[in-house]
Amino acid sequence: MKLLVDKLLANHTLPDEEMNLLLASDGSVDDYLYEQAQKVRREYYGNDIYIRGLIEMSNYCRNNCYYCGIRASNTEVSRYRLTAEEILSCCEQGYNLGFRTFVLQGGEDMYYIDDVMVDIISGIRNKYPDCAITLSLGERSYDTYKAYFDAGADRYLLRHETADFQHYSQIHPQNLSAENRQRCLYDLKRIGYQVGTGFMVGSPYQKTEHLVKDLNFIAQLQPQMVGIGPFIPHHQTPFAAFPQGSVVLTLRLIAVLRLMLPAVLLPATTALGTLDPCGREKGILAGANVVMPNLSPVSVRKKYQIYDHKICTGDEAAECRFCLQRRIESIGCRIVVDRGDSKLLSKK
Ligand code: 5AD
Ligand code: FES
Repeated sequence: MKLLVDKLLANHTLPDEEMNLLLASDGSVDDYLYEQAQKVRREYYGNDIYIRGLIEMSNYCRNNCYYCGIRASNTEVSRYRLTAEEILSCCEQGYNLGFRTFVLQGGEDMYYIDDVMVDIISGIRNKYPDCAITLSLGERSYDTYKAYFDAGADRYLLRHETADFQHYSQIHPQNLSAENRQRCLYDLKRIGYQVGTGFMVGSPYQKTEHLVKDLNFIAQLQPQMVGIGPFIPHHQTPFAAFPQGSVVLTLRLIAVLRLMLPAVLLPATTALGTLDPCGREKGILAGANVVMPNLSPVSVRKKYQIYDHKICTGDEAAECRFCLQRRIESIGCRIVVDRGDSKLLSKK
């Protein structure tokens, strides 16, 4: 098994059968795998960990993904959307706390037509020329993505969720397709965004073969960012009774991704921190180099509940910022005040 890690380290890829073996292994090689992944992270990023200020701008969503707590059919959710002023005030607070990337995330909320969204993006762009603007607003047309980009957005996060078309149709309603999802990702790349994709670990019906396909899809797309986290059931969804994903398998995949794409920006996700009190620290020790604390107003945080028991929903932005700083310093790393672009970009 150790040989597989060495081979992955040297070649940045493994044949499907060997990747399958590594992902399904008993864990005896995990410490070695994490060690190698950390070494690679250090070569590219030293001890620097980048922070992204997450602004959950709307929990309205037109879709009905079977796993997601803010799906349209969940009538128990109290819906909200932030105004341009509220979003700008989150940015101001974030800037003062040292954030140089703002992530605007939300459900697919058609209230924000192109003109409205373009105003919000250019408002942030004008006020914070030294910051990166990341969007995470789901599937849109090429023209809409282009309008957002021209208004000043730099990056876009859109997890592919699963690269296996049949598996995709098992966790989404019929009107959503893996094909359109992947079309969006290639459109975003073509426009010039730095792109992030990713998937849930342990989503219902997921098999190791699906994960191997996910990694192959990522190798082909060559995204700048990859976000992965364990599936966590939400009690008001069709998947309420499915078991949660495995923290250990998530960590193993983080390390594998670091070896596959040495310069990739890899967050230790909130979902990881939700299933394990030290999940984010463990993620960093497995090769992650990004954390994404919440900048949303405390008044709306509990309403952005895509899975049960999400952490940090009661904390002020500043509390999360300093809590994470302590956590990161406790494992020998440090938070930097920086846009945190991929080192591949700066080498060009
Ligand atoms: N558990 C874990 N992650 C989830 N996501 C959505 N629902 C859940 C859940 N129940 C992830 C999806 C989505 C991202 C915003 O959150 O991968 O793309
Ligand atoms: Fe939010 Fe620790 S990161 S309280």
